[in-house]
Amino acid sequence: MADPRRFTVTAALPYANGPVHIGHLAGCYLPADIYVRYLRQRGEEVKFICGSDEHGVAIIMKAKAEGVSPRDIVNKYHSIMSKAFEEFGISFDVYSRTTKETHHKTASDFFLKLYKQGKFIEKETEQYFDPEAQQFLADRYIQGECPNCGYPEAYGDQCENCGASLSSTDLINPKSSLSGAKPVLKKTTHWFLPLDHLSGKIKKYVESHKDWKPNVYGQCISWLDSGDGLQARSMTRDLEWGIPVPVEGGEGKVLYVWFDAPIGYISATKELLGDEWETWWKDEETSLIHFIGKDNIVFHCIIFPAMLMEHGEFILPDQVPANEFLNLEGKKISTSRNWAVWLHEYLRDFEGQQDVLRYVLCATAPETKDNDFTWKDFQTRNNSELVAIFGNLVNRVLVLMNKYYGGQVPEPADLSQEDHELLDLLERAPKKIGESLSKYRFREALTSYMNLARAGNKYLADEEPWKTIKTDEKRTATIMYVAAQVCAQLSQLGEPFMPFTTAKLREYLGLELRSWHNCAVKEIIPKGHTIQKGELLFTKIEDQQVEEQVGKLTIAKEANTPESDLPPLKDIISFDDFSKLDIRTGTILEAFRVPKTDKLLQLKVDIGIENRTIVSGIAEYYTPEEIIGKQVSVLTNLAPRKIRGVESKGMILMAENPGGELNFISPGNSMASGAIIR
Ligand code: MF3
Ligand code: ZN
Repeated sequence: MADPRRFTVTAALPYANGPVHIGHLAGCYLPADIYVRYLRQRGEEVKFICGSDEHGVAIIMKAKAEGVSPRDIVNKYHSIMSKAFEEFGISFDVYSRTTKETHHKTASDFFLKLYKQGKFIEKETEQYFDPEAQQFLADRYIQGECPNCGYPEAYGDQCENCGASLSSTDLINPKSSLSGAKPVLKKTTHWFLPLDHLSGKIKKYVESHKDWKPNVYGQCISWLDSGDGLQARSMTRDLEWGIPVPVEGGEGKVLYVWFDAPIGYISATKELLGDEWETWWKDEETSLIHFIGKDNIVFHCIIFPAMLMEHGEFILPDQVPANEFLNLEGKKISTSRNWAVWLHEYLRDFEGQQDVLRYVLCATAPETKDNDFTWKDFQTRNNSELVAIFGNLVNRVLVLMNKYYGGQVPEPADLSQEDHELLDLLERAPKKIGESLSKYRFREALTSYMNLARAGNKYLADEEPWKTIKTDEKRTATIMYVAAQVCAQLSQLGEPFMPFTTAKLREYLGLELRSWHNCAVKEIIPKGHTIQKGELLFTKIEDQQVEEQVGKLTIAKEANTPESDLPPLKDIISFDDFSKLDIRTGTILEAFRVPKTDKLLQLKVDIGIENRTIVSGIAEYYTPEEIIGKQVSVLTNLAPRKIRGVESKGMILMAENPGGELNFISPGNSMASGAIIR
């Protein structure tokens, strides 16, 4: 065997802001784990690195949503996530977290080194600031209309509708998601990493990797060709949660999460290996491989490599196998709408069946395009592949072997053409499957693997040892010997895909895990070897279980779209009816509570041609202070009414959801008071 090679394999550090779902598993962690298990079995030197990404706006937003501190959030989700990964056999050598001391120091030192070498430019820029919340707004906190596709709820960093990557000043009608206020531009200083002077180097680096998957290579090239791909990027942020900027003037600022997180791979390696870590990041003989989802491509293929280039001491990523996205029952997986299959819930409903999910997710992995997970397909693959083919073959062999030979593998007699063909197939399998795995073609690898089980199952059905046992001793012994080899090979080569099942199978067969190379033989289990009867490896999944899972999704969906609570539509009216309404924009000039009431505010509203006094039942939702200056819609020709002794002339229009929550109807942009609404 050739000398072992050295691989540093990473899987994207997931944000510690929610549990893990099947999309995460299929997109990144499962393929990474399959690959690493394969490398280990080949006897290569490999370290599998991951951890929780615990900084950044994603964490802060979740903390706000749950009403707790960012630290509480990361502690909670770090433990949920690391447990889920472990239960699904994702065999990290280290699963660290970016809030660790080692990481803070590593990232801070990395920044300082670039700083001291003059790699950053310090620049004062104008950034959106929320005048109500009194803080700078991260791009994620700003929503507005996408300049590219017109989608009204694009984020300041990205439009989730068309995928365009944006900067918040690109948004039309920006709005702070903290307060709803219109953000204002305010000066702030940040450290930018210029990339333009690296353009030649980066281009050359990318172009020397034509072996990257087409989706990865293509995205990099179009980014580089797009012109603004290599603009200087700010590596610091005005936030309170993160790694403090370690240079003068950096007070109150933190490192950009996409600066610190990839360095987390390095910090985690240090945590795992101590002083030896450097070999895994600096030795040219080491191959650095990043498994990620497609939304992380540019960061891993361009920005992180640029950081590493500027630092100067590190090797660059060699491979970045990125997957596309997995959909669920035809829809995009959505955490907020609870349209997801959570790993911890799966385990509760399908106890001990981790490998079934691993199998199905590998078989349907979104390797080259987005793909769909459906429960029906999950059931079919389990019942007609794992149970009916794999499980059936293994069960028959184990049972018959015990019945006919007391569990001892018999000596084969002369081999038939069919026997030879099957044994040849087994012998060639490690090479074939290994080639697919080396090229990150996990689905293809799994298909070749399952074809062994298929071939074995067919062989048994054709040869019918349960019939030959009555007529032909020798032939039966030969059949059972050959069939045992199929099971033995399955127990070896399946380790990367289905580690739990194949470990069980090896136990039944009394086999140790072999190296991949030692599997390229015709005989893995010798005659005279004793095997146990074992237990069923897979069990059928019933329709009812599938219905329950699908039902769960539907409930989740309905619970979050309260259309059903809405009152029915009113009768049709004529245009004349409508034009009787005089609705205009107004600006609230004054507001105070009507004494001895909980709900009422007395307002003075500028409606363009005059100021009006209006009493409005919004005191439970707005304080007088926060609505001064707000633009609202006013129904001006509603007959005046006396409310608590005050004459109210007009009505402020509000949107009210079924829960009774109220919101002003305001023009998207501020307008002169008195604009007609129609
Ligand atoms: N947390 C990021 C995400 O979930 C991925 C970070 S990958 C790393 O999209 F390289 F920054 F670690
Ligand atoms: Zn868009």
